[in-house]
Order: sequence, then structure tokens, then C-alpha cells
Amino acid sequence: MDALIIEGGQRLSGRIAIEGAKNAALPACVAALLTDEPIILRRVPQLRDVSTILYTLGALGKRVVRNEGSVVISGDGPLSGEANPYSVRKMRASFLVLGPLLARLGRARVPLPGGCAIGARPVDLHLRGLETLGARIDEHDGVVDVSADRLRGARIELAFPSVGATEQLVMTATLAEGVTEIANAAVEPEVLDLVKLLRAMGAEIAVEGRTIRVATSRLHAAEHTLIPDRMEAGTMLLAAAIARGEATADDVDPDDLGPLSDALRRVGVDVQEDGRSVTVSASGPLRGTTIETAPHPGFPTDLHPPFAALLTVASGTSRVAETVFESRFTYVDPLRAMGAQIAVDGRTATINGVDRLRARTIEAPDIRAGAALVLAALAADGTTTLGGLEHIDRGYERLTEKLQLLGAKIERQST
Ligand code: EPZ
Repeated sequence: MDALIIEGGQRLSGRIAIEGAKNAALPACVAALLTDEPIILRRVPQLRDVSTILYTLGALGKRVVRNEGSVVISGDGPLSGEANPYSVRKMRASFLVLGPLLARLGRARVPLPGGCAIGARPVDLHLRGLETLGARIDEHDGVVDVSADRLRGARIELAFPSVGATEQLVMTATLAEGVTEIANAAVEPEVLDLVKLLRAMGAEIAVEGRTIRVATSRLHAAEHTLIPDRMEAGTMLLAAAIARGEATADDVDPDDLGPLSDALRRVGVDVQEDGRSVTVSASGPLRGTTIETAPHPGFPTDLHPPFAALLTVASGTSRVAETVFESRFTYVDPLRAMGAQIAVDGRTATINGVDRLRARTIEAPDIRAGAALVLAALAADGTTTLGGLEHIDRGYERLTEKLQLLGAKIERQST
């Protein structure tokens, strides 16, 4: 098993190249199921989750050619309506194939995604939305069977602006008859990037506030460059901040990082936005603050754990309220073991800043909590050994090399 060996206390400085967004890449790959013509995606990150979705598409009958940052998904042969149970259980985003397969084949069978470390994560909003479009749904033995003679556009109001349900329903609606209106839709940048790809494929989609209208379309070949990964950029900027250094994330969208930049400024970190880059500089004292996660344009839940790591060394009392996932606090125990003072009550963590964190041997419990532990280790006294890298590898491409380029003493070892 691999481990990261991180010697804390190095000041970081430099520029960081940011990859395409994982959470834009996954639905974009699935959108290729909507047409027989080729979809070319660029700036695709080389991550385990992307390999999983491409494997899923290959098993469904698509031809996938991957060449560094580009992926071509094509194939006009017959599609299978049954998703591979292994890949859906391994990664929840694979469940997005359900609606597109239903729209193409009139039926689909996909396993229910299991629970995961950050919460129960049901799929009721996906299923109720598909029902509203005319699907019959039969859930049994951990599998969902959906079928429909025809899908008809309809108004769907989501009880919560779920990213996955919005993506599932927008994709399905492109092949339904008539107009679909999704109210209280998620409008995360990754959802809007999917909308951009679908428009390039010929879909007629209007986005107004939290309402997305989709008109029926004939979809065709398209080429699309994914947006930059705001979670990778945010994590790297937080790494520079916790290590009291300065760093510039290049080729990002500063607006998409806005909620993080605002929170960093409140902590005392200088943040400069310049066209397509964001620079942080953290030479002064850090002070505690309060954040509350929320659907976009609120503070992103995926940056909650790395931001909480920064707050463990910010003076005074901080609070982090999590409103999106019930179990995003998996970083708390390992950070406490490193000397952080954190108490969790319901969905709120109260953090009392400490002067120093101590290196420990710890395990990454999930992807973003893993990132939080890397950040804590960069600021800790001594050498941390961090296992559980299979989680971190799901979301961060070449993390070790990128941190080394900033001056971190970090190595990946096979043990
Ligand atoms: C996406 O997950 C992201 N994953 C997550 O990124 C991200 O944390 C999340 O959106 C929120 O921004 C991908 O894009 C692949 P949701 P998703 O549906 O779509 C509840 C990362 O670290 N809900 O918006 O699964 C759900 O339980 C990850 O990269 C229902 O109740 O998120 C949760 O509490 C992990 N019923 C909340 O909504 C449903 O049918 C938000 O989930 C669907 C969701």
C-alpha cells in the first residue's frame, strides 16, 4: 500500500497548473450515451474516477480512446441497458447512466449506489424526476429497473438542488418529447459545463436562476473542453495558505472560486484575482471565521474539509456548518490526533485554533478529508505518514508532484 510521507513546516511558493474538473468530466463522459456520434472531450483529468466511468461506458458498448488529456467516446453499435454493478457500487456518479440509457433504449437496469463515507446519499430525486418524465420504476434487490415506451417533457421541482439529479434529468430530458422544466435545479459550475456540452451536441437548454428548461433535440457529435477543477485549485491554494506561503492557481475561473476567496480573506489571507488566475499570500496571522456550506453559489461542501484544516491553526474560535452532506466530518478524528481542537455537534464543527499541529501516522477516510489531512501534515511539526491514498487518487492528479513544485517535502512511498 502506498503512503505519503510529508515533512511539515516548509513554506510553499509558486504557480500551480490546474486540471480539468473531475465532477464535470464524469457527467460529460456519460452524455456521450445520448448520441451514436463521437464526443471529444479535452482537459480530461487522469484520475481513477474518470477511468471508472470510461470503463462503465466501454462495458455498455461505447468505444473509448483516451490520449493524455483527450478522450474520444464513439460507437454506433448496440448499447447494453445493464450497467456494470461493480462500477456503480464503486462510484456513485456511474448512476448517471440510468436516464440516458432509458432515453436511448426505453429501459435500463442499474444497481443502486451504496452508501458512502460522507453520508447515505439516496437517489430518490433522480428516480422521482424520471417518473415525472414517464418512466416506470421498479426497485428490487438493490437494483433499479426503469422502462418507458416514451418520455414526455414535464415540470419537475427538486426538493433539494441536487447536482447529480439535475445532471441525470437534464441529460434525459434532451431526448424526451416536448419541453422539460427543472425547478430548484443545481447550478454548480460543473452542471453548467454539462449544459454547455449538451448545447454543443445540439440541445436547446435555457438556464434562468435555478430553473433549467430543456427542449427536445436531435443530438450529434461535439467537441468540448472541460472547466478547470475548482476543488483542486481551492485545495492547492489552501495548501499554500496553511503553509504560510503564496501560490497562484493558473487557468482557473476566479468567479467559481469566489466563495473560497471570500472566506480566505476573512481568515486574513490576501487573495488577488487576475483574469484567469487566483493568487493567495498568507504571510500574516490567521484568524478564525464561520463558514456554512450550501449549494452553489454558496461555500462548496467539497472544500469544507480542507478549509477546516486551515481553521485548526487560525487563532480564536471558528465554526463550520455543513448543510449538504450529513457526514462530512470524517477528518475530525485524525486531525484531533494531530493536536487540533475540534468538537462536532450535529452538523456543526467548532474549532479552537492551536499554534501547532503534530505529525502522526494517519489514514485518509475519503477524498476531501484526505486532502484536509495532507494540508494539516504540511503545517505540522515532524513527519506525517498518510495512508488511504486510493481515496485521494480519486480526485487529485499528480498531487505529490504539484506540492513538490511548490517546495513541499512530500514523497509517495510504496510500503
Ligand atoms: C456531487 O455529488 C459531487 N459529485 C460531489 O463531489 C459533491 O460533494 C456534491 O455534488 C455536492 O456539491 C459529482 O459531481 C460526481 P448531490 P452528488 O446530489 O451529485 C441529497 C467530491 O468530493 N440527495 O448534490 O451525489 C444527498 O444525499 C464529491 O468530489 C438526496 O437526498 O451530490 C446530499 O445530502 C463527493 N436525494 C445532497 O442531496 C437524491 O436523489 C447533495 O447531493 C440526491 C441527493
